[in-house]
Amino acid sequence: MTRRIIIAGNWKMHKTAEESATLAKEIVAALKAAPSANEVVVCPTYVALDRVSSVLAGSGIALGAQDMHWENQGAFTGMISGDLLKAVGVTYVILGHSEQRAYFGETDATVNKKVIKALADGLSPIVCVGETLEEREGNITEKVVETQLRGAYADISAADARKTVVAYEPVWAIGTGRTATSQQAQDVHKYIRGLLASIYDAATAESVRIQYGGSMKPENAAELLAQPDVDGGLIGGAALKADAFLGIIGAA
Ligand code: PGA
Repeated sequence: MTRRIIIAGNWKMHKTAEESATLAKEIVAALKAAPSANEVVVCPTYVALDRVSSVLAGSGIALGAQDMHWENQGAFTGMISGDLLKAVGVTYVILGHSEQRAYFGETDATVNKKVIKALADGLSPIVCVGETLEEREGNITEKVVETQLRGAYADISAADARKTVVAYEPVWAIGTGRTATSQQAQDVHKYIRGLLASIYDAATAESVRIQYGGSMKPENAAELLAQPDVDGGLIGGAALKADAFLGIIGAA
């Protein structure tokens, strides 16, 4: 089974629409000059989606959002629905990011509702899982990841699961400069693939791409991405500069 590498930039709460368009233009131009076999996704803030969507048109680079609500429309002040995202050209949506879990009350149950709705809307969820430093040191990484994964995929069919991407992001490696070793990443990725095989079947598990996230940069990307179960990266800090992001795409 060959899985196409997927490199996604999570721009978090950075960059105006103007700055986002500039960064997107740099990435588009560079990949036009030197095309990559990898799938590339950029996830700007909501207010930049429309501008970036225009920049990406025809480039083959996909547009992602950083979250969405599970309702279609209505009195949900501050929320964004899958329909609204689709209308500006979004095809991927990051769900269950550890920052959402830590600061904004995201739970496995709300992640599950969002995954179900994203799939119903025709969006591909990037489902984030990962343990904290305390959990790793307490030797419960697998338990934590299992609970998050089973929670997120409750009532999701195998056919739908194949449309998703899992992002393994150890919380202690996010934005800290501290990267999981390639072996630590591979161990958990392999564990996640085994879980998917037990929830679904081997063929489904083999087809789902599992990204690593947490201080991935051009210097460590090649080694991480060389691991058999590491199928891409979800990049925060290093995705905010075109040369670093392109370096990671090139390393893959
Ligand atoms: P980082 O963030 O690359 O800055 O560690 C990754 C993420 O949170 O998606």
